[in-house]
Amino acid sequence: MLRTITTLVASVAVSAMIFTGTAFASGPTVIKFSHVVAENTPKGQMANKFKDLVTERLGGKYEVEVFPNSQLFGDNKVLEAMLLGDVQMAAPALSKFSRYTKQLQIFDLPFLFRDMVAVEKFQKSSNGLELLDSLKKKGLVGLGYLHNGMKQLSSSKPLKVPADAHGLKFRIMSSDVLAAQFHAVKATPLKKPFSEVFTLLQTKAIDGQENTWSNIFSKKFFEVQPYITESNHGLLDYMVVTSKEFWMGVPEADRVVLKKSLDEAIAFGNDVAAKKALADRQKIVDSKRTEIITLTDAERSQWVEAMKPVWEEFEKQIGKDMIDAAYKSNM
Ligand code: SIN
Repeated sequence: MLRTITTLVASVAVSAMIFTGTAFASGPTVIKFSHVVAENTPKGQMANKFKDLVTERLGGKYEVEVFPNSQLFGDNKVLEAMLLGDVQMAAPALSKFSRYTKQLQIFDLPFLFRDMVAVEKFQKSSNGLELLDSLKKKGLVGLGYLHNGMKQLSSSKPLKVPADAHGLKFRIMSSDVLAAQFHAVKATPLKKPFSEVFTLLQTKAIDGQENTWSNIFSKKFFEVQPYITESNHGLLDYMVVTSKEFWMGVPEADRVVLKKSLDEAIAFGNDVAAKKALADRQKIVDSKRTEIITLTDAERSQWVEAMKPVWEEFEKQIGKDMIDAAYKSNM
């Protein structure tokens, strides 16, 4: 009789644990961090730093697994996967959120930010912080911005003035603003995943692309692009995101430690970004595989003039006040 009762109690306890999802939960909670770039990039190094800090501070309770180079998900799938609970963290480029919010399109407006100082100032302002919350309704939590840097234009032909881009095909991230930017110079934009860019360039299926020095270097785009125009025409930054369901399921004390670790990892990644923008540019110069074109003030003005109408085109979706606030960060 006693044996029967003991067996019954044990079996009820096991069922309860299975039901609550805590059954045999002796191992750490795994945080899968998926991204698309190489490990030796600002985002790659930030993710690895986050992993190290969490191991040091919460090891045994949480384990961060980092999947670089689109090994787990490409940017087009990662947010869907996050909402399904298949991945817990990611840091897509700000250009890749337009299916979830139109407000973040602001970061794609050409020639909006003069430099990374202005970007940092805007992201830290109340408007910038408000945009971090713009994914809430979709079940995603913006945990912080991470820099990569200003984008350059690489091409199979020298690009000095907008007319040089006429009729050329450029790969872009999945952003309507970026599409409009290339339409504005009568070029053809093609939305393609990052993982396909090298092959598209190598096989000449496309003529060019836009990216930062660290991505152009780490993915070897410079080896298959004879010209890079140092245009600094746009921004490539990221938002580190998680799902509301995962984040709110983490006990508050742990959440505080995870957030602090992430903030420190982001500060580290931003430092890497600033250094790499210079160092990777220099490595590309030293390689002599590509010619770097510097624009005169007059040439640059032509690009600004040609692309500026894009701001008005997206003003309604983004909000004029927000655009004005971002522009003011240049002052
Ligand atoms: C990234 O830096 O995460 C990828 C950027 C791109 O898709 O061009």
